[in-house]
Amino acid sequence: MSKFADMETFPHVFQVPSHTLREGGLFEMKGKWNELFFKNSNPIVLELGCGKGEYTVGLGQLYPDKNFVGVDIKGARLWTGAKESIEKGMTNVAFLRTNIEMIHHFFAENEVSEIWLTFPDPQMKKVTKRLTATNFMKSYQQFLKPTGLIHLKTDSNFMFTYTCEMVKTNDYPVIYSTNDLYASDLQDTILGIKTYYEQQWLSRGLTIKYIKFQLEKRDDFIEPDIEIENDSYRSFGRNRNVADS
Ligand SMILES: C[S@@+](CC[C@H](N)C(=O)[O-])C[C@H]1O[C@@H](n2cnc3c(N)ncnc32)[C@H](O)[C@@H]1O
Repeated sequence: MSKFADMETFPHVFQVPSHTLREGGLFEMKGKWNELFFKNSNPIVLELGCGKGEYTVGLGQLYPDKNFVGVDIKGARLWTGAKESIEKGMTNVAFLRTNIEMIHHFFAENEVSEIWLTFPDPQMKKVTKRLTATNFMKSYQQFLKPTGLIHLKTDSNFMFTYTCEMVKTNDYPVIYSTNDLYASDLQDTILGIKTYYEQQWLSRGLTIKYIKFQLEKRDDFIEPDIEIENDSYRSFGRNRNVADS
């Protein structure tokens, strides 16, 4: 069976075309993920841009008392985590195929406790596409609890610098921040989970950066006004080692 046919049969994979939502269609589980799907009242944690879903599945195994939803636009990638979680018999994991720009259509006010952003594309040219840009903070605060947390794990100095500045400019409380996670004093098994992209960046000798902050509610949002040097290695092909440059 093809991955896409497989996905249609998975009971824990959800998708609604963006045009349906734009035309006023509703996602019936919005506000009811726990009641209709997870059948408990445990906190809900999202991984946005989850790719193959390593964090969604890994966290789901570490925390059976939390519910995890992996979100990505690419179905073939989601399939890997969806298949693995089914095979492991996990009941606290689901996947959502959508553009993250539409994410507020899928979760209601205060429905989500935490968001993980794992190795998102830094979108160096287009700030509004960056998953830690203020337009996304405005979107996330619509469904994140007032004490809700955002975790960013990244190889990208550009993305990390931008996010730290965005957090500072908007005065969000920082819980933890390091520009070299594996040389830091943070001992946390959660951070030991390595995604597909993380393994690639580590094998190129890059350091991993991590910031955890609280998304307090804001009425106004300020985009940081700074120049950030681009990540030079991002223009290289996937197969070329950073050491070759
Ligand atoms: C660089 S990959 C990282 C994947 C995974 N988190 C990892 O670390 O291996 C970025 C992922 O985000 C997804 N993505 C980027 N922008 C998105 C958007 N606006 N909506 C949905 N998915 C998006 C891509 O499809 C891709 O799978």
